[in-house]
Amino acid sequence: MYRSRDCGSLRKKDIGSEVTLAGWVHRRRDHGGLIFIDLRDRSGLVQVVFGVENKELHLKAEKLRSEYVISVKGRILERSAETINVNLPTGGIELMASSLDILAVAKTPPIEVADATTEPDEVIRLKYRYIDLRKEKMRENLVFRHKVVKAISDVLDQEGFVEVETPFLTKSTPEGARDFLVPSRLNPGKFYALPQSPQLFKQLLMVAGMEKYFQIVRCFRDEDLRADRQPEFTQVDIEMSFCTEKDIMDMIEGVMVHTMQALEKDIDLFRGKHIPKISPPFPRLSFEEAMARYGTDKPDTRFGLELIEVSDLVRNVEFNVFKQTVARGGIVKGVNIKGGAKFSRAELDKLEASAKQLGAKGLAWVSIAEEGLKSPIVKFFKADEINALVKEMKGETGDVLIFVADKPKVVNQVLGQLRLDLGKKLNLIDESKFNFIWVTDFPLFEYSENEKRWSSHHHPFTAPHGSLDDIEERFLSDPSLIKAQAYDFVLNGTEIGGGSVRIHRTDLQHKIFNILGFSDEEAKRRFGFLLEALDFGAPPHGGIALGLDRLVMLLAGMESIRDVIAFPKTQSAVCPLTGAPDYVDEKQLNELHIKRI
Ligand code: AMO
Ligand code: AMP
Repeated sequence: MYRSRDCGSLRKKDIGSEVTLAGWVHRRRDHGGLIFIDLRDRSGLVQVVFGVENKELHLKAEKLRSEYVISVKGRILERSAETINVNLPTGGIELMASSLDILAVAKTPPIEVADATTEPDEVIRLKYRYIDLRKEKMRENLVFRHKVVKAISDVLDQEGFVEVETPFLTKSTPEGARDFLVPSRLNPGKFYALPQSPQLFKQLLMVAGMEKYFQIVRCFRDEDLRADRQPEFTQVDIEMSFCTEKDIMDMIEGVMVHTMQALEKDIDLFRGKHIPKISPPFPRLSFEEAMARYGTDKPDTRFGLELIEVSDLVRNVEFNVFKQTVARGGIVKGVNIKGGAKFSRAELDKLEASAKQLGAKGLAWVSIAEEGLKSPIVKFFKADEINALVKEMKGETGDVLIFVADKPKVVNQVLGQLRLDLGKKLNLIDESKFNFIWVTDFPLFEYSENEKRWSSHHHPFTAPHGSLDDIEERFLSDPSLIKAQAYDFVLNGTEIGGGSVRIHRTDLQHKIFNILGFSDEEAKRRFGFLLEALDFGAPPHGGIALGLDRLVMLLAGMESIRDVIAFPKTQSAVCPLTGAPDYVDEKQLNELHIKRI
């Protein structure tokens, strides 16, 4: 028998009992003949003591090094008052060892497991991920992730959703990224695509009459990576029949309430403070309003610093940058940095440099000091003009107002990002807040400047708002005005989910494909199976997918989804542990009918 108890479970009530423990040597200290070991298993740490009386045992204990795997037997003793460790749940007791088995020796690890303060390079952490995961924090993250998955599965099960698996070797599903392709040995020249999402299959399951489907499912997207993006990631994928947008949003709100409740203790522990209960309905902001007020479709609403448009107030001023921008169809927006007048000139210059880096041509500012306005642009304004501007911006003594003039896209991007940077810099973000919001009424189409054509903002299966029968006429008059029955789910400025009501009639789906410039043949080749299925009696349906990695990251208060994924890839989509992706033998390529170029 390797063990009778878990290390972290021992308490004062166990004093006197004889136990066997197994685990890794976390730390070793020698003290005047006594050898102390912190023994670690998944449940935690406990102190083991090797006395001097038993010479043979002591000699064996002297050989122990960090990360050796041992099994040790002994009696639980109370620690003397001065040696109690209040920081450890097992800190009131220790194990006096009577026998020791070294189960495996270990080389000096490249990552110091016992030292939480030094963080080695990420490539080393990923190459030796199995050691990195021995760290308490990382282990806790994985256990936490497991609990989130369980809570979500449980509540969906209670609500009547059925988990159904869908294929990985499949055909391209358009979600806006590139596909990962898998060559078919049995079908020369042909490729499977790994799914960017199970979108089409879940719609087919609705046609099949499943009514309520979910799946905790891996998705694959070949796109440029960031802290919240991985080439393979997990979705909580959901689809429902006979539902409206509101039904889906209400359902997700219920799922979040249940999940946060089930994990209340864990979340409080992770955050080091009590997190107030969330209370749906979560705020619903239209895409237009989100862009207007925050410059982004995934606003962090934990703090103010909202964007205010002042184009109308500056279209006739003498300041050419503003006047001409508005005349050319651009806009001018500003942010009131409350208390920002204390910024030094150097700090304002730095802010302007960041704005330029983000794509602005400049950053105009007006500082409202005790002694009056300070600004490089006030001289171009008449008194009533500048007063109106300050009033519109709700400027008070002590504030600094910043402005960007440009095309709407640039203005929103620059001020949206500066807002986030300032929120952090000025400590305006309350980390105990969980601000879930819905962003709704997305445009159905967006224009791609690169490709010079309209494409789906979400995916081409999304239903529009309003009458579906005149969709072509509406498209011809102004495509940008057609809104989608689509919604994003946002938590503290991160998009953690997105979904829509789908088109469930073939004629409409055809129309949308036509509008998007798919020829009938191409639509048939790529999505013929869906169009055919819609001909056989599809219920009205809709759904959503939550980004599980992002959700877990935010609940746990982590910075990157890599912290909540056991074996993630680097920013360049490489796995330093396995060496994937890698070259393969010529023989294998031949079998797959692939020639290297
Ligand atoms: P969407 O493309 O918005 O919708 O994806 C849903 C959610 O998945 C997460 N996500 C990612 N997480 C980590 N790494 C990535 N590369 C990545 N890409 C997306 C995000 C996102 O909100 N089929 C639709 C859903 C539907 O319409 O029902 C879909 O996939 O949190
Ligand atoms: P200039 O007339 O170029 O010296 O600019 C005067 C001020 O306006 C400077 O503070 C610039 O940073 C700022 N500025 C220039 N272009 C823009 C712009 N597109 N939006 C906002 N401010 C600008």
